[in-house]
Amino acid sequence: MVPERQGEAALIAEPTANARPFGEEDPSITIGGRRLSSRYFLAPLAGYTHLGFRTVLREIGGLGLATTDLVLATMLVAGKKKALDLVATSPADRPLTVQIFSGVTEHLVAAARRLVEMGFEAIDLNMGCPMAKVNGRGGGARMMCDTGGACGVVEAVLAAVEVPVTVKMRLGWDRENLTAPALAREFERLGVAAVTVHGRTRSQGFHGEVNLDGIRETVEAVDSMPVVGNGDVRSPADAIHMRRVTGCDAVAIGRGAMLDPWIFRRLERLVHGQPDDVNPSPDEQIDFLVRHYRLVHEQHGPHGCLMFRKFAGWYGARLGIPEDLEDRLRRCESLNEFDGIATEIRQRHGERESDVATALVRVPNGPVERW
Ligand SMILES: Cc1cc2nc3c(=O)[nH]c(=O)nc-3n(C[C@H](O)[C@H](O)[C@H](O)COP(=O)(O)O)c2cc1C
Repeated sequence: MVPERQGEAALIAEPTANARPFGEEDPSITIGGRRLSSRYFLAPLAGYTHLGFRTVLREIGGLGLATTDLVLATMLVAGKKKALDLVATSPADRPLTVQIFSGVTEHLVAAARRLVEMGFEAIDLNMGCPMAKVNGRGGGARMMCDTGGACGVVEAVLAAVEVPVTVKMRLGWDRENLTAPALAREFERLGVAAVTVHGRTRSQGFHGEVNLDGIRETVEAVDSMPVVGNGDVRSPADAIHMRRVTGCDAVAIGRGAMLDPWIFRRLERLVHGQPDDVNPSPDEQIDFLVRHYRLVHEQHGPHGCLMFRKFAGWYGARLGIPEDLEDRLRRCESLNEFDGIATEIRQRHGERESDVATALVRVPNGPVERW
């Protein structure tokens, strides 16, 4: 593993023989004409990476780009509340890309047009979702099984909108069908602004190791279109390792940003040759929880309490919140009640060890065919 407390330029100076050379290291990157100040992005985690979480993460600093949770194209076009909640944003929530999914080209085209009318600056097409109900309707990772079909979809969306269009995919359906390199090459030819590649196949779900060679092969398959590597990055060293080994231009971090919301700031410091001396105090970490809760409540009102439930276990483990308080956090029904719990969390900090291992974001269990 690469030592963390050095400048990033030094850390990535030795690309492997096969990887694209880094040349002059530039902390920023331009994707589809958008200049992003950092090459480290937030990967979408449906149910977690909503406006409140993105906002509080951006306040810490260092985040180059965030993408919304996946939004079903037809729900968006129909103006359904659930879809509109998912694309809710604010001036501080920039730069932002909206991710849409569907197995029907016309639905994606209509949703893309709608997003442009709403003022969004970039669109991401989901070709990586492994869930059966999405794949069964031809969407998500299923699109990677038909290169011609996937290209047809991309071409239609590109023709419909002028904003940058990106694609997020896996390495392929299974290890016999690693189509990411060929698709990336075709997408570049069509005018896609960047692709993000989660280094697993659909068959792997979230199991097994991320295949860095597969990401590297995708990087090598394209000419100059940026490739964003993704999968299992939990620390700045992991992110730098991924860039060094694969030659990818940027890295998208999902669960690692939940485990350590300071990861982007750490990377920012490393990229600028500064030591990673970011050590948030318990109070700062609890401030993060409080701010996050308040933002969710601001957007969703009392329903925000319900939405926050899935965060209780994660915060409990991450911050070492005593179990009775974690339980109250899970059942909390109002802002007043939350404020009382937050005060007690501050007072009783240290009673329970934080346990990052159990703070992992849940992924579906069992055979991927049944997801
Ligand atoms: C709970 C959960 C929800 C996810 N939701 C999305 C999504 O909405 N869109 C998407 O493209 N990927 C989604 N992903 C995949 C992640 O963006 C990412 O590719 C994957 O988790 C690997 O990266 P990580 O190890 O950094 O989390 C999701 C993953 C998880 C665990």
